[in-house]
Amino acid sequence: QIKACLFDLDGVLVDTAKYHFIAWRRLAEELGFTFTEADNERLKGVSRMASLDILLEIGGLTPAEAEKLEMAAKKNAWYVEYISAMDHTEILPGALKLLQELRQNGIKIALGSASKNAMMILDNTGLTPFFDVIIDGTKTVNAKPDPEVFLMGARELGVTPAEAVVFEDAEAGVEAAMRAGMRSIGIGSPAQLGQANIVVPSLADFHLAQLRDLETDASR
Ligand code: BG6
Ligand code: MG
Repeated sequence: QIKACLFDLDGVLVDTAKYHFIAWRRLAEELGFTFTEADNERLKGVSRMASLDILLEIGGLTPAEAEKLEMAAKKNAWYVEYISAMDHTEILPGALKLLQELRQNGIKIALGSASKNAMMILDNTGLTPFFDVIIDGTKTVNAKPDPEVFLMGARELGVTPAEAVVFEDAEAGVEAAMRAGMRSIGIGSPAQLGQANIVVPSLADFHLAQLRDLETDASR
């Protein structure tokens, strides 16, 4: 039986990719190269430093470690400036309704995000009260596809991996769920998230009944 749902934050509950994008683009411009929205796709679900590595690879730059830390800090300061203006209107379609339904049905809810800025986003959008447990980038050591973030979430909720379902928009996140021994719902395109048990275009297309279907579908 499914007792808990673990949610990724960026791209599942809120659309922060656009803010990550303009902050990374600003850094790229400062460094003298162009960073496109298509390039930004490669950063979804990827940790801050791994994102910087991809950006630098695109720009053909190989700075020293200390410089890289400065660049990441600069990008993050811009990003924090952007997300500090977020409010509940930036919650993605279907998210609130699903969270409410899960609560009403006694299903536990955890956050499983790579972001070190998750708390600020949850507070600004008013989502914090929905969560029984919050695991973010300040608590984990290993980034997705490592299963750490979801395993920690399930442990703190007091459920087994088999009783948990993960909602993810990134391939690395779906892989992390699989490696944690959890079923997953992919939010996005089947071409990218085919490994997930169910793929829907957005949370607005997901219904509680589908969670029940998963329970009876023991084959996956
Ligand atoms: C993930 C995002 O949730 O968090 C990535 O999808 C981001 O794009 C990562 O790089 C780390 O976020 P932050 O806020 O700690 O830089
Ligand atoms: Mg995501």
